[in-house]
Amino acid sequence: MPSKFEAIMVGCGAMSAEWIRSAKELGIHISALVDLNLELARARASQFQLDARLFDNLDNAIQKVQAQVLFDCTVPSAHGEVDSKGLTNGLHVLEEKPLAMSLTEAYRLIDLAEKNKLVHAVIQNRRFHPGVRKIRRLLDRGLIGEITTVNIDFFVPAHFGGFREKMDSILLTDMAIHPFDTARYLTGANAESVYCEEWNPKGSWWQHGASAHAIFRMSGDIRCTFRGSWCSEGLRTPWDSVWRIIGTNGTICWDGLNDIRGEYANKEKADGLFYETESFVPSEEPDPKEARGHFSVMYQFLRNIEEGIPAETRSADNIQSLAMVLGAIESAKVGQRVPISV
Ligand SMILES: NC(=O)c1ccc[n+]([C@@H]2O[C@H](COP(=O)([O-])OP(=O)(O)OC[C@H]3O[C@@H](n4cnc5c(N)ncnc54)[C@H](O)[C@@H]3O)[C@@H](O)[C@H]2O)c1
Repeated sequence: MPSKFEAIMVGCGAMSAEWIRSAKELGIHISALVDLNLELARARASQFQLDARLFDNLDNAIQKVQAQVLFDCTVPSAHGEVDSKGLTNGLHVLEEKPLAMSLTEAYRLIDLAEKNKLVHAVIQNRRFHPGVRKIRRLLDRGLIGEITTVNIDFFVPAHFGGFREKMDSILLTDMAIHPFDTARYLTGANAESVYCEEWNPKGSWWQHGASAHAIFRMSGDIRCTFRGSWCSEGLRTPWDSVWRIIGTNGTICWDGLNDIRGEYANKEKADGLFYETESFVPSEEPDPKEARGHFSVMYQFLRNIEEGIPAETRSADNIQSLAMVLGAIESAKVGQRVPISV
């Protein structure tokens, strides 16, 4: 899809390289790079040989540069302000997760985009992992029947430094949004309530909430559990977690990398207590445009602008993933199951 777009890229920190790579591949011209630290903008311009103008202030960039699109790759606490500026100035906005810090702020951004007839979407790159796309195909084929249960394990002892170590509820806010969003994609269900325990284990190098266990009740009577920690040294899981998806007639397991395997019950044949099982693995490769993380999100965002095909991660839908995070945090605070309604 050749692109006719010019973009203002805001936030030139660690994650921005992935954005710029995808934007270049999709033929987007980056007309401005903006960061409070101008040196970071300069470094990205040089790394990617961009002829972009450099700014340490978004207002100046919006005034001085021609663009149709704003890319927001700033820290989570800046998303609300940066996106608002883009949307009030007629720019379509793609932002890094999380969509917002509160549902009120998320609704405000969604309304602003709708009122100004602009596309507003969120980077949820992990639902565009090839493994996730393959599992979704297997589920669509009905091999395990109707989904009843999803179990997700995430144990990655990352030592990032930077803004994360000072954030509250860090695992839920910064990381769990990914598996929660992927669970919604795989099940086609939204969360209705959650019970969550969140804590900062002994020895944690994080300020708050490095571990969490949550149980969601999803639509369709599905239960989805998440057990995760960002301070569990040894035997770490992949970044995409380890998954078990159980249906009325079988199970699919994924190691979070390349190993996806399933079994369903052959109810014609029993062996003692158990039905015999038939094994299966994915047989098709996913559409490459849909299995490339940031590239795929950006591709769908542009297609939404040009052809009106709604991006999967448009903010009006992504608010459901954010609501899972905020619901889990609320439950952990009050020590009770809490409803989730968007
Ligand atoms: N999708 C993913 O897999 C993934 C992975 C890592 C980070 N992220 C997200 O990407 C975003 C950025 O993370 P990062 O690791 O690049 O952080 P970072 O701290 O390395 O970079 C963020 C940059 O934003 C700049 N900034 C902050 N407020 C600004 C403002 N108002 N105007 C202009 N610049 C501003 C900072 O100066 C900094 O350089 C976060 O929302 C994070 O959650 C997503």
